[in-house]
Amino acid sequence: MSAIVASAPGRVNLIGEHTDYNDGLCLPLALPQRTSVSLVPRADDVLSLTSAQEDSDWEGRAEEHPEGWAAYVAGVVQALRDDGHDVPGFEATIDSDVPLGAGLSSSAALECSVATALAGVLGLELDDRAVRRRLADACIRAENDYVGAPTGGMDQTVAMLAERGHALLLDFSDGSATSVELPLDDAGLVLLVIDTRVSHALTDGSYGNRRTESADAARALGVSSLRDVDPAGVEVLDDPMLRRRARHVVSENLRVLAAVGAIGDRSWERLAEVLDASHVSMRDDFEISCRELDLAVETARAAGALGARMTGGGFGGSALALVPRSVVDDVRTAVTGAFADADLTRPAYLLATPGDAARLESDG
Ligand code: GLA
Repeated sequence: MSAIVASAPGRVNLIGEHTDYNDGLCLPLALPQRTSVSLVPRADDVLSLTSAQEDSDWEGRAEEHPEGWAAYVAGVVQALRDDGHDVPGFEATIDSDVPLGAGLSSSAALECSVATALAGVLGLELDDRAVRRRLADACIRAENDYVGAPTGGMDQTVAMLAERGHALLLDFSDGSATSVELPLDDAGLVLLVIDTRVSHALTDGSYGNRRTESADAARALGVSSLRDVDPAGVEVLDDPMLRRRARHVVSENLRVLAAVGAIGDRSWERLAEVLDASHVSMRDDFEISCRELDLAVETARAAGALGARMTGGGFGGSALALVPRSVVDDVRTAVTGAFADADLTRPAYLLATPGDAARLESDG
């Protein structure tokens, strides 16, 4: 059999942070940057893995539980086998232009590219949305149960279901996923991603702490998730820290709806205000920003961005700015200058035009 090739996108979240594991709302989009895997099935169950971005190869069986990047591949194999699929061993070569550790879901892109290639091997119907959802679920379990990162489901879901030119409104209370057209180009606007180069790890405990605190707040309020609380309901919490955490989640859900409304009305100033408010909420209430993210956001705003916020899990990673195309160079120059003045690592940039979901590039 010749190689089966599949690819899957990184993602950036327009708004709705730390809401997915709280039965809430978020609005991510697929990036044009993708991870691709070229996979040749073997007659045994050995996985032989090579990545252009990594120094060392890995070879072994999924049960051996590799560390590092290979775990994301082996985890998907394990999850699909748990679903009853007869997944063979394979040789896989991976390549990616999704920045690693930048909060742009390079791990979900890897998981979803492998799941999509294996869907090709297994003859699963990728035109069927239900199949794509099951693959996304397998990738989420790979990340949560096999790798041990306590993330929500936003990254894998958007990687499997995104539509070019659109953001994807995800509602984790009912599992719905709705494409939202994002005609920024027509409005002369771009989404500039600023990678602070402060690398964040979703396995290091800080992300998991926020998940635990959210659950604690819900328990103290007597609800099964923070989705069941309104802004006034949060304020009865005695513990000021839990009150701040819950306030972020509850208000962020409302901001996602406000953002969808603003996009529908093509009211970009209103969208920008909501982005700004989201950043303040993450900085002050959820406390997941950092000096570099705040500097990127403040400098981008001062240099002409309409609105800006940190994006992704926080504690590093990337910020996102809504910028008139005419001033995007000014914004980049200003942020680079501010980082140099503060003696920080030079940031990296990319433009987030909404890209395609995972797909088979060649089915062997
Ligand atoms: C990471 C996780 C997601 C989500 C975001 C925060 O990207 O993987 O599930 O929780 O952080 O919104």
